[in-house]
Amino acid sequence: MATQADQQAQSGTGHQEVNHKSLLQSDALYQYILETSVYPREPEPMRELREITANHPWNLMCTPADEGQFLNMLLKLINAKNTMEIGVYTGYSLLATALALPDDGKILAMDINRENYELGLPVIEKAGLAHKIDFREGPALPVLDQMIEDGKFHGTFDFIFVDADKDNYLNYHKRLIELVKVGGLIGYDNTLWNGAVVAPPDAPMRKYVRYYRPFVLELNKALAADPRIEICQLPVGDGITLCRRIS
Ligand SMILES: C[S@@+](CC[C@H](N)C(=O)[O-])C[C@H]1O[C@@H](n2cnc3c(N)ncnc32)[C@H](O)[C@@H]1O
Repeated sequence: MATQADQQAQSGTGHQEVNHKSLLQSDALYQYILETSVYPREPEPMRELREITANHPWNLMCTPADEGQFLNMLLKLINAKNTMEIGVYTGYSLLATALALPDDGKILAMDINRENYELGLPVIEKAGLAHKIDFREGPALPVLDQMIEDGKFHGTFDFIFVDADKDNYLNYHKRLIELVKVGGLIGYDNTLWNGAVVAPPDAPMRKYVRYYRPFVLELNKALAADPRIEICQLPVGDGITLCRRIS
């Protein structure tokens, strides 16, 4: 018997076809969450940055508003102070983080593209949060290697959000596990990869979805088998796996 997801996929009304990444059963349910609980409580700078990003051609990359709200609360719950973000784009998740940190909190933020970061930066500056951000333009991996070599950054991060090149997530994990505190969290974004993690390999998929799919599958297996962390994979946004370092 066809499931609701099958029917949606056949009729072309499935979530993959619309301009957000929710994995919920219906668009109406997702819209309900946004309109009832997210947009009415979204801080003004986040709304402004989200609206600026909506006009950008790559806006699909932006962290969804419900995930931004989730990250903001999570960071407050764990009293995060020293954080890292890999993959900034225009800065929506960065802003959600900056708003949650205390005034002397820090975010080491990395992206290969400064131009997109600078689209959102005026909003971050206007909100008086820019002093918390140390933005580094360029690939993240060499920065992580440098920090590991340096030694003084081991076990210093309360929270690390990874939302960048999926083919490097396992390379990031090898390094981040040393940089995050015992008891701290790493969040890997897009671990349900548009639902493609359960699609048959020959199913129709966008080219980039197909390319990154094996890397996401490999990451999910590796995280589930890693005894140094406890994990929790949440169907928020495109799937986020939280990893709590335990050793
Ligand atoms: C999905 S977007 C990030 C979305 C962002 N977290 C937000 O809230 O809107 C992915 C970003 O990763 C960046 N990126 C890709 N490869 C990278 C790398 N090797 N190092 C750092 N950033 C990278 C891209 O330039 C892009 O801006």
